[in-house]
Amino acid sequence: MAILPIYLFGNEVLKKKAKHVAGVSNDDIKLIQDMFDTMHEASGIGLAANQVGELKRILVVDISDMEAGKGSKPLAIINPEIIDEEGEWEMEEGCLSIPEIREKVTRSEKITLKYNDVNMKKVELEADGLLARVILHELDHLNGVLFTDHLTSTKKTLLRPKLKKIMKGHVETQYEVVIAGEPKSKTKNKKIVL
Ligand code: NI
Repeated sequence: MAILPIYLFGNEVLKKKAKHVAGVSNDDIKLIQDMFDTMHEASGIGLAANQVGELKRILVVDISDMEAGKGSKPLAIINPEIIDEEGEWEMEEGCLSIPEIREKVTRSEKITLKYNDVNMKKVELEADGLLARVILHELDHLNGVLFTDHLTSTKKTLLRPKLKKIMKGHVETQYEVVIAGEPKSKTKNKKIVL
């Protein structure tokens, strides 16, 4: 088990598009296990590979601790592709890479997703509500998109000072982080989810 540091807002890797995974190597299996450990340690319910500095189209989700996700299984999703979506709803989101900021984001209510599991088997999944939301948030990460990119320009302007603080590492987290422009550092605190 290894807990990986989480890349904070300002790191270029969060703005890059992750690459298709052609085959799952032993390193990829380890990465997936570490992503689960890292997400659980940080009390998150979703994590994309970009957030631990890897540009691979891999995300993990576990909403089983949430009221809306009772009885659901943790998912490792490789090469996700949305093949259908419907409805719209708004919900307040956070992000382990953007601590202390929470804003309402509108996303599809229901999605049909195609992906590869850890055996590279093709899977089709229908998801709605919180599960759909987390998958869409993490899928955005794989495309270099953050939840703050969905906000109005007014909201973005208002958030700018807070985002600048995060870029400089002037933020407290309960998990180990990578601050933009610095190799690694640690801070403490607890919050946020996706
Ligand atoms: Ni996020």
